[in-house]
Amino acid sequence: MIINPQHQKMADYVRTYMLRNAQMGDPTNGTRRATARYWHSLNVYNNINQILDGEQAIDEEREICQIGALFHDVDSYTVEHSYHATRGAETAAIFLKKEGYPADLTVQVAQAIRQHDHDFDDEQPATEQIAEMRATLPRVSLMLLDADLLDKIGVSNIMAAALPMGRTDKQAYEAARELTSGWPLERARFWRDLLTTTTGRTMGEQRFDFYCQFLEQLKTEIVMSDPFAQVAEAASV
Ligand SMILES: [Fe+2]
Ligand SMILES: [Fe+2]
Repeated sequence: MIINPQHQKMADYVRTYMLRNAQMGDPTNGTRRATARYWHSLNVYNNINQILDGEQAIDEEREICQIGALFHDVDSYTVEHSYHATRGAETAAIFLKKEGYPADLTVQVAQAIRQHDHDFDDEQPATEQIAEMRATLPRVSLMLLDADLLDKIGVSNIMAAALPMGRTDKQAYEAARELTSGWPLERARFWRDLLTTTTGRTMGEQRFDFYCQFLEQLKTEIVMSDPFAQVAEAASV
């Protein structure tokens, strides 16, 4: 990958900013949480590049979306979650102004960052929500939303669900039970249905299919309840 020197500077800024604020707010877990959030931003940056290619985005859209991906969660540790997008838009705008970026581009980046925290509704049909988003949001915001949502579907979702279980001393069968319990796949399906761009939807389908295959395979490989436990229990009564 060819590194854009300006994006390098932004990534350094975002990583340092998130670490500093997370450590101040939570000295015990701040480093771990900010590191995970930074790597999520890298996934979103990776996703957005695939979407931009697929959607044949023009240079200005590429710049807005790539910067948006790097900065979209920068204020995860300075304010309550419901304000992180608004504050993140401000942080990005201040950075871009200092770096001499054109005001017009800065406004569009800030808007895309603000709009990435979309209020999805569990009760409203996905098709209605997609129609509303397509009618009201600019294309760059739709692409950034998709890039963010895609990190909740597929391998990345599986890893995020399984890794913390390792730290809590859960055994593989316990992690497998949780992953196949229904809700992780339900959430992945919910996110997949809310993707709006053609490329984002194709990527979402592929990731969701892999997720389903993984869960099916998991059920064939890992025993999730001990067939001898009941026999042993019955014998001890
Ligand atoms: Fe966010
Ligand atoms: Fe995010």
